This record gives sequence, structure tokens and C-alpha cells, in this order.
Amino acid sequence: MAHYQRMGDVPPKRHTQHRGPDGELYYEELMGEEGFSSDSSLLYHRHVPSALVDARPWALPEQATTANAPLLPRHLAPHTLFADAAGQVDADAVAKTDAVTGRRLLLGNADVRIGYVVAGAPSPLYRNATGDECVFVEDGTALVESVFGDLVVGPGDYVVMPRATTHRWVPTGDAPLRLYAIEGNSHIGPPKRYLSRYGQLLEHAPYCERDLRPPTPPHEEEDRDYEADGGFEVYLKHRGTGPGASGGLVGTVHVLPHHPFDVVGWDGCLYPYAFNVADFEPITGRVHQPPPVHQVFEGHNFVVCNFVPRKVDYHPLAVPVPYYHSNVDSDEVMFYVAGDYEARKGSGIGVGSITLHPGGYPHGPQPAAIEASLGAERFDELAVMVDTFRPLDLGEGGAACDDGAYAWTWAGGRNGA
Ligand SMILES: [Fe+2]
Repeated sequence: MAHYQRMGDVPPKRHTQHRGPDGELYYEELMGEEGFSSDSSLLYHRHVPSALVDARPWALPEQATTANAPLLPRHLAPHTLFADAAGQVDADAVAKTDAVTGRRLLLGNADVRIGYVVAGAPSPLYRNATGDECVFVEDGTALVESVFGDLVVGPGDYVVMPRATTHRWVPTGDAPLRLYAIEGNSHIGPPKRYLSRYGQLLEHAPYCERDLRPPTPPHEEEDRDYEADGGFEVYLKHRGTGPGASGGLVGTVHVLPHHPFDVVGWDGCLYPYAFNVADFEPITGRVHQPPPVHQVFEGHNFVVCNFVPRKVDYHPLAVPVPYYHSNVDSDEVMFYVAGDYEARKGSGIGVGSITLHPGGYPHGPQPAAIEASLGAERFDELAVMVDTFRPLDLGEGGAACDDGAYAWTWAGGRNGA
């Protein structure tokens, strides 16, 4: 994220004395990617940012995965993970679930993990040291507080949170907060082909800097409870092995003597931001446009795309739904967020569904959807897609909400029946 921002109280010259109103020296912290060789920000803390008073293990939610074998396309129904026997959201359970510790792992590999949670409780302070997070808000509203300041987020927002940023999710409003969490083992940002050599979003990009919402300026000290008996707990997810490791990840709780949101000012090009999917301007054409036109972000070995309401292919003989395609290098995960997804008519897919179409297997519309799409002028659909360049395994949440029948829907049933 190479779009410079400056918030709060920063000194005119970097790495020089910066003092508060009583003459106390602030503590400068550089938060930078790729070993001082990529984007960074400088933050000015009231307290020593590395101060610790205690540490203990955090038992992460189950991170182990099982292979997608025999290889099949799959339909996951993540809403059911947080529903009661009647299929309604389980309000009692959700009231106690938070957006970080309550995540259920749906799919994952060595590059990215996709989780889902319906949350009603504030999360603990949290820092993901394995990579950037790109969290899509399916529904509900939240205040995302961070060491950089706050983001007010709602339906359709992506929240891009840089690796190792201390933050927490606080649901606001009455609707449960529904989050689709894409956790990279790398950094996540705009596709490189949309960036100038110095990092500005180019004219052919489907969004620009004006569409990205930075955090509010840091809070004044008196806004928060900066002192607490026993310190402030930060839940830290990091890579590792050994006792307590799950799927190559380890959890630790750090106890800090001071609240980590003690920053008086910061500046730089590294910070969390929000982007609403409604601000993505779709790229359309006379004939079918390939999925990369829908790309919004990329990480190492995966991309994030979104399919938004749009005018569709306008050649007089156009077939608006996709051709069958064999993504020989990718697994493709589609999360159906809203609207009416044309290509999946007749397959049981609806809002809240997730499909996995693995590499090595061709996929495309259910046959009835092709004829039904002819002559359409608009698709009213909203979906978020993650394509990975290495195979995805099923997490415990994914295995628990797999419908087990999707693979046979093109043939009319298992064994063609
Ligand atoms: Fe596809």
C-alpha cells in the first residue's frame, strides 16, 4: 500500500526527538515490510511498545486440514456452522463468539487460510504475525480498532489488515457480524498490474485511492482505559511447530503493561484500510471477460476477485455465463454474498454458499443456466472469489458444512441418477 498517509502528531523530521506536552519523550516505532525494503510507517507511542509483563500459550481454533480426496468440487454452507437446529442464527452462541477466536477454518493451504465467523462479542486485542488479513464483511457492522486508529465497517467492506498490526473487532448494531476471513501467509494488496512503477493505482484499475478508507486519527489518551490491573492481553497468531501447534501455527498471549493503542501520531504507507465492494467498477465487454478483470487484491500464490452487479456481455450472440474452464493451476473458491448467481442455477447454490472448484477438474455453468442467460443485460450478483495456486485442503469448519452432493449436480445426480 504505497499511498502515503499522515495522522495525528508526528515530528517534522523522522528519527528526531518528539515530546509530549509535559516534555516526555515519545517512543518511535518503525513498522516495515520485507526487512526495511518495502512499505513502512513510523508510529509514536506514549509507552515502550516492546514492554511485556507475561506470556502464555493461546490454544488456537483448530487449524489442521484434511486433503480434498477423492478430488471433488464442493459446496460448503458456512451459515450452518452458526445456526441452531431450526436453521436460524444461534443467537445465544453468537453472543459469546468473537471475530478472532471464533473463526472456523473452511479451507487452507500453505499460502492462505479461509475462515468464517458470526460474531456478537468484542474480540480480544489480536495480532496476526503469519501474514496480512483481508476480511470481508458479509453482514453486520463493526468498529475495527487498531494501533493506527479506527475503521468503521459494514456490509461489503474488505478490511485489509497488515501483518502484526494490533487490532480488535467490536461488533456494533443489532445484526450479527458475519465475516469471511482471508488470512494470507504473505502481504495482500492491489494487483501489481494496476500499479504504476511507484505504486499509484493506474487509470485502468477498477478502483483508485479515493475508494480506500484509512483509519481515523489515533485516539486521545483520555478516550481509553490506558491503565488496568494485570495488564492488557494481546492474542498473537504466529508460525511455528511444537506443543500446541495446529496446522503449522501457534498461538501466544502477550500481556502488556500498557494499552497498545497509545499512538499519538503516525505516517507512512503501511496501515490498515477498508474498501467497499460497491466501489469496485466492473470491467465489461461485448463477449465474456475472463476472471482476472474481477480481481481486487493479490497475495503470494493467491488472488481475490469479486463479481459485482454489472452490465453483461453485449455482443448480439453473447453467452453471458462463463464458458467451462479448467483452471489447471488453481483451486477456485467462490463465496456467494448476494443477488442471484446466474451460472449456478439448478445446483442448490444460494446466498451464503461457498463452492470449491479444484484444479485438475473442468467446471462451468449448470447446463440449464446457459440457455437461461441468453439475452440477459445485467447480472445482479455479488460474489467474492479466492483463486489459489496450490491445492486447498478442508479445514474442520469446511468439512462440517460440506453438502456432499454438489459434485453430481452437472450430471443430474450421483451415477447420473
Ligand atoms: Fe470458475
